[in-house]
Amino acid sequence: MERYAINGGKPLYGEVCISGAKNAAVAIIPASLLVDGPCRIENIPNISDVISLKYILTYLGATIKYESNNENAMIIDTSGVNSYTATCDRVKNLRASYYLLGALLGRFKKAEVVFPGGCDFGFRPMDQHFKGFEALGAKVKVEHGIIKVSADRLKGSRIYLDVVSVGATINLMLAAVKAEGVTIIENAAKEPHVVDVANFLNAMGAKIRGAGTDVIKITGVPVLRGRATYSIIPDQIEAGTFMIAAAATKGDVTVRNVIPKHMESLSAKLMEMGIEVIQGEDWIRVKYNGQINKVSIKTLPYPGFPTDLHPLTAVLLCLADGTSTITEGVWDSRFQYVDELKRMGALIKVEGRMAVIEGVGKLTGAPIKATDLRAGAAMTIAGLCAEGHTEVFDVKYIDRGYEKFDTKLRSLGADITRVTD
Ligand code: EPZ
Repeated sequence: MERYAINGGKPLYGEVCISGAKNAAVAIIPASLLVDGPCRIENIPNISDVISLKYILTYLGATIKYESNNENAMIIDTSGVNSYTATCDRVKNLRASYYLLGALLGRFKKAEVVFPGGCDFGFRPMDQHFKGFEALGAKVKVEHGIIKVSADRLKGSRIYLDVVSVGATINLMLAAVKAEGVTIIENAAKEPHVVDVANFLNAMGAKIRGAGTDVIKITGVPVLRGRATYSIIPDQIEAGTFMIAAAATKGDVTVRNVIPKHMESLSAKLMEMGIEVIQGEDWIRVKYNGQINKVSIKTLPYPGFPTDLHPLTAVLLCLADGTSTITEGVWDSRFQYVDELKRMGALIKVEGRMAVIEGVGKLTGAPIKATDLRAGAAMTIAGLCAEGHTEVFDVKYIDRGYEKFDTKLRSLGADITRVTD
């Protein structure tokens, strides 16, 4: 069991470099199953979800090597993969295991993957993934906790997603890139990591157009060849995490290696709160200016306010002047963080999908736990801005999506240490 021991009340100052995007990396690594020959991918975050996927692909027969003295660059050669069955335990460690379905189906016309794991936000259906696979000509069945997909032929089709789904959009791109003919995905997700996966596949010879809009057109090609090096985009949610931490600790932090356009919804909300936000070409500076105004936020698919920043923003709003609200527009239940914050003096009421957050002026340190990846990051920020000592338990959740999180925070002046019991 590992935990963070934090002494709060210290503003964060300085600069921090943002790592590669988790939700792009966990899709691009399985996507390499569609590529003939080795491909080199850089700016991969060194996080446990990536390590799990490295293990799973190796288990399937791939050879994956980190570049010498560069833990953020991998050379992946999947030519040795001769199995379409991903049923090892690690598959349950992460939600992104579902991408093995689209990638293995696209390569072998067959895939068998145990149900994925991931953060618990209530029911996380996959009906849109299955609807898309069937539209491409595959049969889908679930037996003994294993999702089995198979097709004699994969033929392009027009697929309308009933729900805007990041996972389904990417999974169907993976299944369709080598299908016969043209596939159109309508009502597609537009997240930056959806675009990054499309750009990776196109760099390897795919023909995908429209990623980043709600209509994506995929023209099937017979082969994808490992050609260029592909560099993963910066992590929008990690960048947002440090921007919020700067404001919540009343500090002044510049996040580097970011794409400001990806941060627009958060930057706008921080400015609405009275926080100073200055942006450059690949950096954003966030500076506390003596106030945190109350606001109302609704989380939505991109370009709306990211659901993954919901718990983190809730911590900041505990310190605002007045009552704020966050309405969760993506997940049925993403409020597990509320009970943990209440231990620190937060006054939050959950009414349906809305959190009503009183500005209590300050939080006090307490023993709390990470209930999922982003809630864990939120609890850490709560400890940083609280008065007194905080212990955050179950930091393994945080390791899934943040590279060197406590190291980066210490470089900004945080009094945080990682303790192994
Ligand atoms: C991805 O999850 C991310 N995970 C999540 O980030 C993120 O919260 C989510 O997208 C939304 O942005 C990864 O990329 C690995 P969805 P995913 O399919 O793909 C419903 C993190 O912290 N839905 O976009 O599982 C679903 O219930 C994680 O990095 C269906 O109804 O999310 C939800 O209400 C946490 N049927 C909504 O769509 C389906 O077949 C959005 O889900 C699929 C989804």
